[in-house]
Amino acid sequence: MKGYEPSNWRALSRVDQIVSFSEDDIFIDFGSGKGRIVYLAARYPFKKIIGVEISEHFHEIAKANIANSRSRLKCRDIELINQNAADYMPEDPFSIAYFFNPFVNTIFEKVIENIKLSFLSNPRKLWIVYKKPIMADYLDTCEWLTHVHTNRNTAFYRSVHPDGSLIT
Ligand SMILES: C[S@@+](CC[C@H](N)C(=O)[O-])C[C@H]1O[C@@H](n2cnc3c(N)ncnc32)[C@H](O)[C@@H]1O
Repeated sequence: MKGYEPSNWRALSRVDQIVSFSEDDIFIDFGSGKGRIVYLAARYPFKKIIGVEISEHFHEIAKANIANSRSRLKCRDIELINQNAADYMPEDPFSIAYFFNPFVNTIFEKVIENIKLSFLSNPRKLWIVYKKPIMADYLDTCEWLTHVHTNRNTAFYRSVHPDGSLIT
């Protein structure tokens, strides 16, 4: 079995340099594992942070990790969901979707399709931050996204208007 691999501790400061986090942002980590990215995100004053994790074991560890660090966190609204991301339909108007190579092929495509439905029901500025982007070719086919940047094996995509312009 492949070992568990969390994001680097500095992962989000690099993302902030491109995305410019704001207090209005809602952040989702798809495949949140033991919660390192949820924890790092919660050190920023995001409006809300959601972690979706398929493994009950990792989900329970993430819950304990976040509970133990609550006093150090700036974001107070943190939701951890134990679910297959392919079956998760986001209800919040989230603005940042983070992936650290959690899944591929049909699961990844279903999650992106669900994100697209969320976007179409409420068009907005939405970032997809994709670390180890092995499904980048699929994202490149999504007409509602534009590839902004790839650096240190992390790809950044943004939502676009139907006319191709960036949503600001
Ligand atoms: C590489 S780890 C990343 C953990 C965390 N996001 C981070 O960056 O530190 C990927 C996680 O995705 C989870 N995962 C795999 N398939 C999934 C699915 N279909 N739905 C939700 N989570 C999934 C794995 O259990 C694992 O915890």
